[in-house]
Amino acid sequence: MKALVLAGGTGSRLRPITHTAAKQLVPVANKPVLFYGIESIVAAGITEIGVVVGGTAEQIRAALGDGSAFGARITYLPQEAPLGLAHAVLIARDWLGDEDFVMYLGDNFVVGGIADLVEEFRRERPDARILLTKVADPSMFGVAELDPDGAVMRLEEKPREPRSDLALVGIYLFTPTVHEAIAACTPSRRGELEITDAIQWLVDSGHSVGATIITGYWKDTGNVSDMLEVNRAVLETVEPAVAGWVDEASEIVGRVRIAPGARIVRSRIVGPAVIGADTVVSDSHIGAFTSVADGCRISGSEVEFSIVLQGSRIEDAGRIESSLIGRSVHVSGAVRAPRAHRLVLGDHSQVQIAS
Ligand code: TTP
Repeated sequence: MKALVLAGGTGSRLRPITHTAAKQLVPVANKPVLFYGIESIVAAGITEIGVVVGGTAEQIRAALGDGSAFGARITYLPQEAPLGLAHAVLIARDWLGDEDFVMYLGDNFVVGGIADLVEEFRRERPDARILLTKVADPSMFGVAELDPDGAVMRLEEKPREPRSDLALVGIYLFTPTVHEAIAACTPSRRGELEITDAIQWLVDSGHSVGATIITGYWKDTGNVSDMLEVNRAVLETVEPAVAGWVDEASEIVGRVRIAPGARIVRSRIVGPAVIGADTVVSDSHIGAFTSVADGCRISGSEVEFSIVLQGSRIEDAGRIESSLIGRSVHVSGAVRAPRAHRLVLGDHSQVQIAS
């Protein structure tokens, strides 16, 4: 069995971060979200992994390499444009050959791994198996309708009037029959080859499509609030460890991991939180559910429920919360300036100012 990991796409919901970076590489508790997926694939005993890449191919390659760091063998499959999830399978057709495979969306996050699901699929071997989870707002997702025996009857992308509250999770198990289904599909109204259409084709043509309803934690990290929420959930499981230097005037409370080379000076860090290597926090308060990446400087500020990426500086900035701050960003207070905000923001940035 092989795995096909989708790490292309546009990432429009995570702009401006995705103008310069792959959304699958945004760190959750200081580890790229994509790594959690690759690790769970390898933990399920699958080591042949094809990674579909788009405009951010170079970054994804640099992060994953040949896969040996994960105990896997990675083949990169360039997709010329994000033309849909089924299109990603189409371009991987030759690499997949006649093997069964798990398709894993590189920005999805599941707690508990996929080993049991893969094992169940190998045992029962339906033509396809999808994963579903109950959600409060099904109209935001692909939604499945099941028959009384639990088999899939109907799939609909972001329905206005959802027929169930079961949303598609971004992990699918396929036999090679799916290639026949994709060959029969045409682009949808949004111009993409939809995997839901291919699965519906399987159902309509009498193939067996099973569904597993997962009860554990799942999130698609496609937007900022879900990203912060996954960060929160993962931080709650982080092993506390202080490898960096903490001065006597500082206080570390609860589940906190401080990487080597980090320095905490006259500050309070309230866990769960992680502070990356060589980051300096001084005269500041880092609140719960915050990940600060490597090489950052935080001084005279409060940061809570946020993700700060590599090499950023936050100085005399007051209180920052529920924020995703990109790489090499500089946020500073303007003590002597008139009461005005001075901003240099990239395209599609979002700022809420407390006035
Ligand atoms: P989505 O989140 O559905 O799409 P997107 O990345 O274009 O994001 P947005 O809606 O914010 O613009 O994609 C799910 C995953 O699949 C994600 O990791 C990107 C990847 N993907 C591909 O690799 N190729 C594709 O053609 C598409 C549509 C997505």
